Amino acid sequence: MNNPYQPIKTKILKVITETPQIKTFVLKPENHFKFEAGQFIQLTVPGVGEGPFTPSSSPYDLEKIEVTIMRVGKVTSALHKMKEDDVVGIRGPYGNRYPVEKWKNKEILIVGGGVGFAPLRSLFLSLTHNIKDYKKIVFCYGAKTPQDIVYKEAVLDRWQREFGKNVSFRITVDRGDETWKGKVGLVTTTLDNLDEEISSIPESVSVVCGPPVMMKFTTLKLLDVGYKPENIYLSMEKNMSCGIGKCGHCQLGKFLVCRDGPVFTYDQLKDIPAIWD
Ligand SMILES: Cc1cc2nc3c(=O)[nH]c(=O)nc-3n(C[C@H](O)[C@H](O)[C@H](O)COP(=O)(O)OP(=O)(O)OC[C@H]3O[C@@H](n4cnc5c(N)ncnc54)[C@H](O)[C@@H]3O)c2cc1C
Ligand code: FES
Repeated sequence: MNNPYQPIKTKILKVITETPQIKTFVLKPENHFKFEAGQFIQLTVPGVGEGPFTPSSSPYDLEKIEVTIMRVGKVTSALHKMKEDDVVGIRGPYGNRYPVEKWKNKEILIVGGGVGFAPLRSLFLSLTHNIKDYKKIVFCYGAKTPQDIVYKEAVLDRWQREFGKNVSFRITVDRGDETWKGKVGLVTTTLDNLDEEISSIPESVSVVCGPPVMMKFTTLKLLDVGYKPENIYLSMEKNMSCGIGKCGHCQLGKFLVCRDGPVFTYDQLKDIPAIWD
């Protein structure tokens, strides 16, 4: 019988420094590996440990997988020291995905904060693969400073040129500097005047990922501007261990995030008291 905890040997093809704290790792698993936008993997640094991460690349790219990782502790610091040609392990994919087939012909609002951009980049690349299926995509993103913006050249320039008027970007930083000509303010301020771009907010879908405090205030604002709880999709991050619904580490109310999520609608979670902890 296959061991569900056995990782697939995976070579690091390239390391991209996104910000002082965040790197993107381009990975080539030894075996065929397929995921869908929103699902996560468990990534092992040999001799150090493993952690859950959401691929940030397009699920349509079957040649490689990218993960974008912020350095916060033991595993992520060890990973940040790794170089091209080093080997890690991955297992998965686990959890559910964004139900993109339900969003056809709709206006989609994506809201990201910090490294929460990672699963949203995978989602964005998956949606733009079939861009004619969607009425409009509005992408809002907030970082602490201009240096903390991930996928900078894509989000500030390339994607707009590539995908044209069906997509638009609202990028903000908490604190600007002399290089920054864009908007300054918390990511929630990008949700002001949304009706200039989204013609029917009650019919529109929103997708949020970022630090818990950002998710909380973004969700409250989305409700305030007219999004329905069942149309607000949240990617929840809980401490995980097994990743396969066995250990209970990732419990959130009646749900196990690794098994029932990580993607939930606010409607599913709204009565859970510790939702943002
Ligand atoms: C489904 C899912 C997807 C994720 N996707 C990404 C991603 O794409 N990119 C990314 O950078 N991070 C992602 N994370 C968070 C990532 O798993 C943790 O940052 C990482 O496991 C920390 O490991 P560490 O050994 O470096 O830190 P540790 O030494 O274990 O801890 C350092 C700090 O990080 C916190 N922490 C530890 N584990 C987690 C965890 N699982 N979730 C949140 N905080 C944690 C601890 O409370 C502590 O404050 C995701 C988490 C989940 C649950
Ligand atoms: S991580 Fe073990 S049950 Fe979810």
